[in-house]
Amino acid sequence: MTAAALLEVRRATRRFGGLLAVNDVSFTLAPGEILGLIGPNGAGKTTLVSLVSGTLEPSEGEVLFHGKAITALPAFRRARLGIGRTFQIMRPFPGLTVQDNVAVGALFGRGGSQLRVAREQARRCLDFVGLGAFASRRADELGGPGRKRLELAKALAMQPRLLLCDEVMAGLNHVEIDEVIAIIRKLRDEGIAILVIEHVIKAIRSLSDRLLVLHHGEKIADGTPDAVLADPTVVQAYLGRQRK
Ligand SMILES: Nc1ncnc2c1ncn2[C@@H]1O[C@H](COP(=O)(O)OP(=O)(O)OP(=O)(O)O)[C@@H](O)[C@H]1O
Ligand SMILES: [Mg+2]
Repeated sequence: MTAAALLEVRRATRRFGGLLAVNDVSFTLAPGEILGLIGPNGAGKTTLVSLVSGTLEPSEGEVLFHGKAITALPAFRRARLGIGRTFQIMRPFPGLTVQDNVAVGALFGRGGSQLRVAREQARRCLDFVGLGAFASRRADELGGPGRKRLELAKALAMQPRLLLCDEVMAGLNHVEIDEVIAIIRKLRDEGIAILVIEHVIKAIRSLSDRLLVLHHGEKIADGTPDAVLADPTVVQAYLGRQRK
């Protein structure tokens, strides 16, 4: 691995019974880099992110953060080290306020364990994603776009050095997508490395420094967005299907 890599995934494989959800995938992510992760439905994107966040263990292979193996660490320990993620299937605590949902993220992450401090941190994160006005509302009063922002705010409250975003733009309209892109760029400007799973090709192309493509669990391309999206293997595996 290069000295500069923040994250390195080394030959990661994850099986579910006989299914190879992630098959021998390696990649690195540098500090401040935005890596786009694309691939058809069921390609293994969420599974790969779960191997990095620690929600799932790899069947084989290793995950290194700051050059140290973290493969055996549970998710909460990885969160403390600075790995934050959003979830594709959003699960806010419905009875809690928007602010306290985010405060839970702060308690879980690098910041520490004082509730008052966590709430202050939550407030800053809500302002950052444009949800400040909803801080005292119940989380289940938010609509789809609001819940996406809440997922981002929860991950940010963990004060991540690496942020894993699993389809934070799904279901958003063009204006909302542009707003989320601006938020992600602002985070990168603060030095956070970001891995973005997204199906919206236009968004991922403009956002990503590099693109990685999964297909049937295997990495089939890794390079600049222009080169990857022009790659015939990618076009056939992914874009070709999209045009059906
Ligand atoms: N917990 C699980 N148990 C069994 N099979 C699983 C589990 N999680 C995922 N899979 C399977 O692993 C494969 C990869 O799933 P994954 O959710 O990682 O794909 P994805 O690329 O994120 O898809 P999508 O674009 O639909 O979100 C799929 O065939 C899926 O059905
Ligand atoms: Mg997924």
